[in-house]
Amino acid sequence: MTDISKQDRVLIFDTTLRDGEQSPGATMTLSEKIEIASMLDEMGVDIIEAGFPIASEGDFEAVTEIAKAAPNAVICGLARAKDADIDRCWEAVKNCARPRIHTFIGTSPLHRDIPGLTKDEMADVIHTSVTRARNLCDNVQWSPMDATRTEADYLCRTVEIAIKAGATTINIPDTVGYTAPRESAEIIRMLIDRVPGADEVIFATHCHNDLGMATANSLAAVEAGARQIECTINGLGERAGNTALEEVVMAMKVRNDIMPYRTDIDTTKIMAISRKVATVSGFAVQYNKAIVGKNAFAHESGIHQDGMLKNAENFEIMRPEDIGLSETNLVMGKHSGRAALRSKLENLGYDLGDNQLKDVFVRFKALADRKKEIYDEDLIALMSDSNAQAEDDHIKVKFLRVVCGTQAPQSAELTLGVGGVDQQITASGDGPVDATFNAIKELVPHTASLQLYQVHAVTEGTDAQATVSVRMEEDGKIVTGQSADTDTVVASAKAYVNALNKLMVKRLRTAPPEESKSA
Ligand code: KIV
Ligand code: ZN
Repeated sequence: MTDISKQDRVLIFDTTLRDGEQSPGATMTLSEKIEIASMLDEMGVDIIEAGFPIASEGDFEAVTEIAKAAPNAVICGLARAKDADIDRCWEAVKNCARPRIHTFIGTSPLHRDIPGLTKDEMADVIHTSVTRARNLCDNVQWSPMDATRTEADYLCRTVEIAIKAGATTINIPDTVGYTAPRESAEIIRMLIDRVPGADEVIFATHCHNDLGMATANSLAAVEAGARQIECTINGLGERAGNTALEEVVMAMKVRNDIMPYRTDIDTTKIMAISRKVATVSGFAVQYNKAIVGKNAFAHESGIHQDGMLKNAENFEIMRPEDIGLSETNLVMGKHSGRAALRSKLENLGYDLGDNQLKDVFVRFKALADRKKEIYDEDLIALMSDSNAQAEDDHIKVKFLRVVCGTQAPQSAELTLGVGGVDQQITASGDGPVDATFNAIKELVPHTASLQLYQVHAVTEGTDAQATVSVRMEEDGKIVTGQSADTDTVVASAKAYVNALNKLMVKRLRTAPPEESKSA
């Protein structure tokens, strides 16, 4: 047996709260970010990229608050190669126990064209910006954005400048998910071989998944010498997303025989954080997603089930409990007590304080009154729903009664609490959901357009809970709301209201500067 403590350590840099949150519709509130940061910290993530402090007051505040919730990790803020960005970033991270400034500039021909800089002019900007960051902070990461489409010689030159100016980590972003494993490895190898001072810094890999190769590209970079992987939970991120944390970590664990690298991640915490990120971002995990998908450990075919019963290793390369999935799907019901609920939720990865448990227990009892058997999936939906409906929400669904059936028009009688004041209305529409949405729109007028309305049955049976997702867009701002209920129309109303609440949060935040959006 190899001694794992002697293996090369790969640092895990999580950017769920920065690159992940940049995904259209994945807006998170401050309290959601804080909860995720604390879970990332507890699971052993080395560096948390907490935001882009110059982008908005909200991002600035998030970075400082996240630092308090994550006392062990290095807290990193992002900054363009501009004095104001770097200074603002330092303001946000300077009181963290272990701060890092991450500054970047697009080095590929296409990106050099945007500010209209020559290679020499850009080289000067890199020198000045990294020097400025290093004068403020001992821990500086530099990224040549779109590195994989940057000319090899120029990439080496810029990395050398950044190292000389004091960068301690050099991150190589595959910004548009263009590279492939062999090339990803070659770039890292080339930089290590050719750049003076390369042995004094840590090389990082930052991949996007446009061609579905982010995990393979990240691992190839590690084999070539990179010792930091940048990733997000569930692979959340713009377009096809970023490298998924759970995939690279589990790949190195399961195939440690051929990838002998060590991380500090407690993999049993993966499932809980995956669910949390899916809930708060509104980006559901696809059923057949590696590691965290609902079907990742499900064996339906007869041959597989038979093989599994004889020996789980026949068809399982890792155990469900390795990622924090409880094996049992013990059914609960209205006679189940608080202790049983707490233990069940702990098994599912939810660690609740007494007050939270009290609140969830009330919801659990209400659900059990309507639904005889409560499965794991029901509890997960219940937890997602309690996350979605926050005490301090500006808009709340108080009462809803719909009239539906073959006789038009269908109508909805609705009471919303808006800023603490109850408001009522009755509206009609083409079906009960349309009538309900019309009622909400009359009580809370807005110009956001509905982009997606999706309903999923959580379990089987006609008393199953429905989870509803609603995606809305207003002036380029996209938000996703979610809710669950045994009544599909109630779940729809709450999901719509959840989206509106998120939109209000987003309106308060200024849009990030144009150039930063491609990051
Ligand atoms: O994808 C990218 O290039 C980035 C950089 C800012 C690191 O996210
Ligand atoms: Zn990125």
